[in-house]
Amino acid sequence: MNRIRLINSIIQKANFKKYLEIGTRSGTSLYTISCKNKIAIDPNFIIPKMEKLKRKVFDIKNNRKTHYFEMTSDDFFEQKKEFLKNFGTVEISLVDGMHTYHQALKDVLNILPFMDEKSIIVMHDCFPVSEPASTAYNSEEFFTKEKHPEWTGEWNGDTWKSILYLLKKYPNDLEVFVIDTDYGLGIIQKKHNLPMNFELDTEFFRQFISYTFQDLKKNPQELINLKSKDIIPSLLNRFHY
Ligand SMILES: C[S@@+](CC[C@H](N)C(=O)[O-])C[C@H]1O[C@@H](n2cnc3c(N)ncnc32)[C@H](O)[C@@H]1O
Repeated sequence: MNRIRLINSIIQKANFKKYLEIGTRSGTSLYTISCKNKIAIDPNFIIPKMEKLKRKVFDIKNNRKTHYFEMTSDDFFEQKKEFLKNFGTVEISLVDGMHTYHQALKDVLNILPFMDEKSIIVMHDCFPVSEPASTAYNSEEFFTKEKHPEWTGEWNGDTWKSILYLLKKYPNDLEVFVIDTDYGLGIIQKKHNLPMNFELDTEFFRQFISYTFQDLKKNPQELINLKSKDIIPSLLNRFHY
């Protein structure tokens, strides 16, 4: 099961109508996810204008109400507060933008205030496939075969540390785990809907910067609460109302 099938299964079970995606690129995930209202955020969409228009006109069920924001996720949450307020509860999200600890964490912390206890975040790339793939770069362009001779083409970055932060920072408030499929699908849900502070705690953040891929490999259950794919049916059952 990959991120797209998992998200579609949850949307279907929960009858979710509001989807937010950080990191869209050419629309592989955006256009195969079936949801009525969508937000797509990417500073560099690789989707021709005509394609967007065609989807709007001909794929009425899934893309009539797709809102594209060609900007970084930070700019989106900073500049589009009014839009988000009107959008209402964000029911399901895919976090798949910049694959760094800092940015992935900020993306999750920015979405959480717009979620309720039924909402869910799926975060891609939480269980890196190799040491080179787990390298933290701020740009995909740096990540070339020349720099990493053993690189096999995947880039997951150190996104996984954001899972570690969330697990340790919010043990009573968030349910957080990673499913061992599709480079690690991070799952984040609220345990309650009480008001909370989701500002980034810089001191807390620093604790995990020096953790390595080897640390993760030694103890993925402890560091990212890694679960096998067998957990998927019980995850889906949560959405059976
Ligand atoms: C791995 S691709 C997304 C793939 C897509 N979700 C899919 O499954 O087909 C990552 C995308 O994140 C975008 N990105 C990079 N930095 C970002 C940021 N700060 N905010 C939002 N998107 C970002 C890149 O432009 C790129 O298109």
